[in-house]
Amino acid sequence: MKAADREGLSPSQIRNFRKHLADWYRLHARILPWRGAHDPYRVWVSEIMLQQTRVAAVIDHYERFMRLFPTLVSLALAPEADVLAAWSGLGYYRRARMLHKAAQFVTQELSAKLPTDSVGLRTLPGIGVYTSAAVASICFGERIAVVDGNVERVLLRITGRPEVASAAAKNFIHHLASDLVPAKRLNEKGNAAGDHNQAMMELGATICLPRGPLCLHCPVYGLCRTRGEHLTPPRPRQRSRPAAYLLATRKRRVVTEVLLERRADDASLMPGMLELPPLPLDAVEGREPILRLRHSITNTNYYVGIYAQTGSTSGALRRAVPAAKADLVWHPITRIQELPVTGLTRKVLARLRLDSVIGPETPEQRRA
Ligand code: ADE
Repeated sequence: MKAADREGLSPSQIRNFRKHLADWYRLHARILPWRGAHDPYRVWVSEIMLQQTRVAAVIDHYERFMRLFPTLVSLALAPEADVLAAWSGLGYYRRARMLHKAAQFVTQELSAKLPTDSVGLRTLPGIGVYTSAAVASICFGERIAVVDGNVERVLLRITGRPEVASAAAKNFIHHLASDLVPAKRLNEKGNAAGDHNQAMMELGATICLPRGPLCLHCPVYGLCRTRGEHLTPPRPRQRSRPAAYLLATRKRRVVTEVLLERRADDASLMPGMLELPPLPLDAVEGREPILRLRHSITNTNYYVGIYAQTGSTSGALRRAVPAAKADLVWHPITRIQELPVTGLTRKVLARLRLDSVIGPETPEQRRA
């Protein structure tokens, strides 16, 4: 028995669901820079960026990334540090490293042609169930469901299933999502499977919101068992952590340089990225930061203080930096844009207006 039958969606309800969703998507799909792209490379990059990251944060990075690396081969040939620099601010840098590795693999081993089905795509580094299904359906019309957090929430609410994290529940959602994907039709009139998958994600992202769903605008309201009554579990509690960083600058002729530390290659977070040198909290006790800001990474809120090295405190703070000397390098701020700096460092330099050369903060970065 199909998952849709078990939950009481008859074949005609399935047809209705697909049609209402497709009609709504045709009218309401957001215009996004990767929509309508037929080049699988462009769709692939967008789907990797969109993992764990909101659309608004992705748009600027995506456009810049595409200007820097317009083709799969140009990405494969770029040094890893340039790829990380273009990713700076998006977080989860492992995604960028894997994307780069996969581009090199495809260039060297597959004559620069991406596989054209989900099974082939999954053999590439960094491409799992979600990305392979997204690229295969959006670019090649494959009838395969894309299930991200948004789609999961839509289907739990439609069917009224309680939110349980068991493997059986995940399996059920996956089957139901697959039953709902229309048969392959990839022609000049459109791409049924790819559009359906994008419409499901779009519905979750813009209407079936985690808190305060906009049910009156929902195209499948008539088929929904819960209509706003489904309880969404509270978000995991945000942890709070203090953190302190050193801002040391110097002038070399007309150029201002900033001291950056390279994170260890075996660091579990952001290995190899450059950041303002972290300071132990006891070294800044009793000192006033020149800037305070909040920075969220997954479910931790960092309350960050930036401490400037000034004439009177100079050696003291600098000596408090516990890193090995080799990890600390002065960089001209005119080069920051090209360096793989962390999102927090980029944000600090922007707030302090050292950013005339590194570009202003986007509204999304300001909120992060
Ligand atoms: N989230 C991730 N990929 C998406 C897509 N292609 N459309 C809408 N939301 C998405």
